[in-house]
Amino acid sequence: MSPALNPTPDEVTRQRSLAKYRQRAAAYDSTCGPTWGIRERCIAALRLQPGQSVLDVACGTGLSLPLLRSAVGGADGCQGQVFGFDHSSEMLVQARARVATAGWDNVTLFETAAQALALPQQMDALLFHYTHDILRSPSALRQVLACARPGARVAIAGIKYFPVWLAPLNAWVYWKNHGYNGAPGELRSPWDRVAPHLADWHFETTQWGMGYIASGTLRAQPAS
Ligand SMILES: C[S@@+](CC[C@H](N)C(=O)[O-])C[C@H]1O[C@@H](n2cnc3c(N)ncnc32)[C@H](O)[C@@H]1O
Repeated sequence: MSPALNPTPDEVTRQRSLAKYRQRAAAYDSTCGPTWGIRERCIAALRLQPGQSVLDVACGTGLSLPLLRSAVGGADGCQGQVFGFDHSSEMLVQARARVATAGWDNVTLFETAAQALALPQQMDALLFHYTHDILRSPSALRQVLACARPGARVAIAGIKYFPVWLAPLNAWVYWKNHGYNGAPGELRSPWDRVAPHLADWHFETTQWGMGYIASGTLRAQPAS
């Protein structure tokens, strides 16, 4: 049977995500104000240096791009490189407009699924900011991690279930996550597939326990 008639679970998730962001893209930025501080803290955890290359995984509308670009440097002489990708054309068109308006020549964006990602160089750092579907897809995660050098800094922020004593609130957490992800479950420890790939693991909760920021340093990846 052809893949189109018999899609993999990963592809089903991706198609659900694409449909959600087709609807959500126009108003996406207006929903991100309350998590701005988390975005700043997550990017700070990358400890970016001028001249480095950084990948904004599933960059969406590009809200993180100004912070990343300013951290790696945009001036001649020590200009770093910012890369971003997303599979949603509706989200990415806004990111592209942001780059064009600012006239940044060291920000490169790709429209691609994480599962098919290929970059022209190895990254010094990876930002996973609210990228639940990619963290839960072994093939997507493998492909993204393969784009970074051993020792690259990796920072992750996202949503998770509240601790058990606040469990009644988790129906609401699930519902909130449902609006943004093709695979909205698996919220107990969404980081558990990426964590084994990272040394110097650091973890903290945010938003009274319904969010997290984690970071570490990429171990050498096993050859696939
Ligand atoms: C919650 S948004 C986060 C966007 C951005 N990282 C931010 O912090 O504003 C999740 C993004 O993941 C993208 N996405 C989900 N699954 C993907 C996949 N398999 N490949 C590429 N992008 C994906 C969606 O299109 C969406 O833009």
